[in-house]
Amino acid sequence: MATFSSGVQKNDETERHAHVVGWGMAAPASVLTNDELSTFVDTNDDWIFARTGIRQRYIADEGESTATLAYKAAQQALEVADILPTDLDLIVVATSTPENIFPSTASLVQDWLNAHEAGAFDLSAACSGFVYALNMAADSIRAGSIQAALVIGAETMSRILDWQDRSTCILFGDGAGAVVLQASPAPGGVLSSVLRSDGAGSDLLAIPSVGSIDADESRAGANGAKLYKMYMAGSEVFRFATRVISESIEQTCAAAGIETNDIDLVIPHQANRRILQAAARKLGLDADKFMSNLERYGNTSAASIPIALCEAIEQQRIQDKDHIALVGFGGGLTWAAMLIRWGVPQPSAQQGSMLNRQRRHVQYRIARWRSRSRRWRRRVNRKVREIRD
Ligand code: UT7
Repeated sequence: MATFSSGVQKNDETERHAHVVGWGMAAPASVLTNDELSTFVDTNDDWIFARTGIRQRYIADEGESTATLAYKAAQQALEVADILPTDLDLIVVATSTPENIFPSTASLVQDWLNAHEAGAFDLSAACSGFVYALNMAADSIRAGSIQAALVIGAETMSRILDWQDRSTCILFGDGAGAVVLQASPAPGGVLSSVLRSDGAGSDLLAIPSVGSIDADESRAGANGAKLYKMYMAGSEVFRFATRVISESIEQTCAAAGIETNDIDLVIPHQANRRILQAAARKLGLDADKFMSNLERYGNTSAASIPIALCEAIEQQRIQDKDHIALVGFGGGLTWAAMLIRWGVPQPSAQQGSMLNRQRRHVQYRIARWRSRSRRWRRRVNRKVREIRD
């Protein structure tokens, strides 16, 4: 079992903290309700709601993709943070449904934002991906190598579901959430993280892809997984999830030097309402302390934590100085928890300056023009070379 954890830094004058200063989310326009699902899969609203807490999920239309959803969420997050795309040093997209193997979804978002000072890459840690990515960005900020990072969780799970498999297709939906992390000398922000992996459970939750030992579309893997389709051993993953949520939250609290009772709100990966209730019981926390919006979104994998975070902020469930625990779990197997001491103004108090807003919109327009003109110039140069040779 591989382990990684990072604890709280000591207070001194040179100390840098990583604060969440912006947030945004995007959901596709189309909704698929349980009743609609049951017209083409052998299931029903009663079963789905009672066993999972899900009533509906959003599904990407033809013109929507992981990158377009990520881009929308990113624009909102930059708006709240009131910084320019060119202020970003790093863009990480946590996803299991990237646009391509490469180029990364993060590189596409970087281009569309005109964030030309930023490095960009995708991170693969399934439903734990957002917490992994946030931890990587926070550590880079605290180490002093970057000032500002955009961390996104974005998914189009609808495109890797086997719509004949009622044990998985009822659970997942599409969406994206993003946060801007920024360096500050003010104490708080990301306090501690715990990242874990147990690859012995790799056959319990999987999407085989190119390079897989089973990379032949006509065959199914040993566990029944088809190429590019999700496979899940539901009840085993359920048991794993209830165990690791409480365990990793306790570990991240210990690393930050606080009691679990001091947590004001848990923003968990939105997999199943029964999992969240069981985890709350194990931790001895009131179930109300677990943010839940899976009734409307289903499980959006790496996007579920940042989407739930945005909704918690919108519902004013997060106040200044609150201790917020994020916890993700899923394929790998992987799991990750993080403790944040919140320290930014509420959205109503945070008025982006008019001038910066206009500058951001100019940069988005420049980005589109710049990409097109670069491609066009490459094409012309190619033609010229062909004629010359
Ligand atoms: O995001 C990554 C992490 N993912 C998770 O954490 C998901 C963890 N797993 C779960 O949430 C649950 O295991 C499921 C929601 C996937 C399944 O719930 P369950 O209570 O574990 O049900 P089950 O698989 O044990 O199935 C119970 C019964 C079975 O029928 P029999 O054999 O008892 O007659 C299934 O065939 O329910 C049946 N069933 C369904 N019935 C109607 C399974 N899926 C459905 C369905 N509609 N969609």
